[in-house]
Amino acid sequence: MKDYIIKRLLDNVDGYVSGEELCEHSGVTRSAVWKYISSLRDEGFEIEAVAGKGYTLKNIPDVLCQAAIEHYTQNSDFWKKIIVLNMVDSTNLYLRSLCNLRASEGTAVFAACQTDGRGRRGRVWHSPDSDGIYMSMLLTPDMPYGEVPIMSLYAAVAVRNAINDVCGLPCDIKWPNDLQSNGKKLCGILCEVIGEVNNDFYCIVGIGINANHKKRSFEKDIRDIATSVMLETGQKVDRCRLAASVLDNFYKLYKGGSFSIDEYKKHCITLNKDITVIRGGTEFNAYALDITPDGGLLVKTDDGNITEVKSGEVSVRNRI
Ligand code: BTN
Repeated sequence: MKDYIIKRLLDNVDGYVSGEELCEHSGVTRSAVWKYISSLRDEGFEIEAVAGKGYTLKNIPDVLCQAAIEHYTQNSDFWKKIIVLNMVDSTNLYLRSLCNLRASEGTAVFAACQTDGRGRRGRVWHSPDSDGIYMSMLLTPDMPYGEVPIMSLYAAVAVRNAINDVCGLPCDIKWPNDLQSNGKKLCGILCEVIGEVNNDFYCIVGIGINANHKKRSFEKDIRDIATSVMLETGQKVDRCRLAASVLDNFYKLYKGGSFSIDEYKKHCITLNKDITVIRGGTEFNAYALDITPDGGLLVKTDDGNITEVKSGEVSVRNRI
């Protein structure tokens, strides 16, 4: 019911919604509506009541709110199920359990905090309450199994464009799918494929955006290498708008077919740099030449060989 009220108020943001209208459409009594409104006020929603007119929404608090994300997304036909949880082990794990139930694509799950947030290469993704956007999208890509890694490049471009659209902050992509601002990490992406090569499979795209983190929100060991949208712009970001924009930007690239490797390359700071590649427990130095059409990194090793790195971690070496 609270989601319904928020949705109606957002749909009429410049006007009023009468108590009567809310009762009629939801089948609850006037006093029940009043109780829901007062509970929303307790949660920080600024709702003004004007006699003879009804309710109007003045401000929403900095919380991830299902009704607001649904209201802001322009592709609600595709994003059929948006789930917002207070706490979960990991949004990727949550969607994994839906795969067993044969869920359809277009489900997106968000959490206010994660107790077991996962990063790439078995790392932990620290997910403090009320600061970030922790989200995962469930997809069934119509592409060969081997091509699915390109989805993480779609996600990198989508989040980059969303942060630029909503916050005016242009950020860089570090191959394959980290987002950085001023050399510090702003967002990480964990793409997982569930299923087998010759069968139907799911792709779960998990995204962690450092949105309203203060410096002390980060664990001590990453404080100097991580940043947030708020730290970079000096302003708190509306997480619901940013979350909806990520969904819309991803949809455009994935279903609208507007992904281009050239756009990815335009924002990729790894290219034309001396790098160290860390792969399967070994490291080697190389020069980053290009991104291949399937999203691999083409490098020239120090002994002159040209090879494609398909997965792994790279760090840019500083020239002295
Ligand atoms: C990385 O190591 O850079 C990837 C981090 C991905 C974190 C996100 S947060 C939402 C989703 N759920 C998880 O457990 N991980 C991803």
